[in-house]
Amino acid sequence: MSRLLDPILKRRAVKMFDAVEIPAEVRAAILDAARRAPSSFNMQPYRFYWVESEERRREVARLCMGQKPAATASALVVAVAVVDTGSLRATSEGQLEWMRRSGFSEAKLRDYERTSKIGRILFMPGPLGIFGALKWALFRLVNVWKVMGMPPVFRGDILKWAVKSTSLACENLMIAAEALGLNTCPMEGFDGRRLAKFLGLSGRRHEVMMVIAIGRKSADFVEQPQWRRPLEATVTLL
Ligand SMILES: Cc1cc2nc3c(=O)[nH]c(=O)nc-3n(C[C@H](O)[C@H](O)[C@H](O)COP(=O)(O)O)c2cc1C
Repeated sequence: MSRLLDPILKRRAVKMFDAVEIPAEVRAAILDAARRAPSSFNMQPYRFYWVESEERRREVARLCMGQKPAATASALVVAVAVVDTGSLRATSEGQLEWMRRSGFSEAKLRDYERTSKIGRILFMPGPLGIFGALKWALFRLVNVWKVMGMPPVFRGDILKWAVKSTSLACENLMIAAEALGLNTCPMEGFDGRRLAKFLGLSGRRHEVMMVIAIGRKSADFVEQPQWRRPLEATVTLL
């Protein structure tokens, strides 16, 4: 049990790395662990850009305002939340295809098809968010007498929805790196507009969420003790 918790308890935001090469199989294992995180409707609404070539790494580090963890990392992972109904459709079609190949029953296939269709309708903001506004009004009205969750209707809601799943994948990624003998530093200190442009991302469909510096903690890095709020300030037991 405690061995399983080890990488979680040992992980720290490391601010200075020594140059190490990350073997391709370690990179693959880290990225695989990231995508194993749970995601809403299993939609995995994110994309990771693993930046390791020196020239690109230097540029991304510059867009992280030259922060030391970015400048010394062996790789920089840009985590992007994807807010795009086209990509949601492609993901659910991909899952349906996989279910067909894996021999799921016709009933299960129909079930999944129906749910994903409803999901897409719920998530569609429509032109100028008009459909979203209509949905919001309708759901609000029904909610007066019925217990129900509000689906994301506007782009901001969909972004919040995507960010939740992206964050879980980022944490998985950092824990996996730690378990595989590497260290990380999550960063939100970056120029999101320039970074999106550098990666060729569309501002409406993507949101750069976090850059994760990965490497091996430098022998010169002096780690401060880890502080957390007392448990009772974080947890409410009911
Ligand atoms: C969303 C997020 C953004 C962060 N941004 C930065 C950053 O831009 N630069 C940095 O040096 N550390 C950054 N950190 C690291 C935090 O400072 C660090 O996690 C926190 O102080 C707790 O330290 P610990 O992770 O070692 O326990 C960020 C952490 C998170 C979760």
